[in-house]
Amino acid sequence: PVTVSTNRPKVEVEEFSDAELSCRFHTETDPNPRIEWKKKAKEVSFVYFDGRFRGPFEGRATIDGATVTLHRVTQEDAGEYRCEISASLDTVSLGETNVTLNVLVPPQTPTCEVPASAVTGSAVQLRCRDQQSVPPATYSWFKDNKPISKPRHANATYLINSHTGILEFKAVTKEDSGRYSCLASNGVGSPKMCEAKPMTIEDVNMTVILGSVVVVFLLLVVCGCGGMLLHRNGLLTRRRLLQQQIEPQDFKHTQSFML
Ligand SMILES: *[C@@H]1O[C@H](CO)[C@@H](O)[C@H](O)[C@H]1NC(C)=O
Ligand SMILES: *[C@@H]1O[C@H](CO)[C@@H](O)[C@H](O)[C@H]1NC(C)=O
Repeated sequence: PVTVSTNRPKVEVEEFSDAELSCRFHTETDPNPRIEWKKKAKEVSFVYFDGRFRGPFEGRATIDGATVTLHRVTQEDAGEYRCEISASLDTVSLGETNVTLNVLVPPQTPTCEVPASAVTGSAVQLRCRDQQSVPPATYSWFKDNKPISKPRHANATYLINSHTGILEFKAVTKEDSGRYSCLASNGVGSPKMCEAKPMTIEDVNMTVILGSVVVVFLLLVVCGCGGMLLHRNGLLTRRRLLQQQIEPQDFKHTQSFML
């Protein structure tokens, strides 16, 4: 019978490096068995068939015996591959082996969400995220460039979840003001840190005052816009009236011109 095996059923390589998908076979009598590689994603597609690499593998893969080397792999190449050997002259003519390819991606600079300001005593969440890294990154936080240690007892004023990247204050105090940054690492390549962002904790009074100013300003803007819209809607009907009052209009114009 034809026997097929692999040296490495699980292959892990870094992005943009080469991946060797090993396939060894031994035939009883058939000197030229047919070699095929398939990839199983949502559907099964050919990787190597009838002596050629197919589809996305054309021009970027080589074969030695039945062992395939994929060059400059990306996340797209990750998945399950199958090496199939058919030796029609053997008594058991079909053999296969599976190889799983995992493509590791180093962390990118994480995106850090740090509220610019918060009110003393309020609950605040800081978020850090790096979507692309494989395996998923773990996160650690820094305040003014010093690492924030994981809280040791249940009474701590904050929590850090190194898997979700969330730093959570139950009730912020003025001492929590500072510049916060976060480091993403996954053991592949070098860890990446986001730029530090400032967070200012203010007492209620100041915030309420600033808040009211903003609200009043927004109200003014909204009323102003609303007024303009009403004015514009009324314009068509008013135009006739204006045409009849053309003289005082002209007068106004010249007057403002002189001013
Ligand atoms: C390879 O994987 C397929 C399913 O994708 C399975 O049917 C087959 O038995 C596996 N072969 C080996 C040798 O593990
Ligand atoms: C935690 O807080 C409770 C009540 O607020 C207190 O009794 C307890 O001693 C505190 N524990 C620690 C470890 O600080």
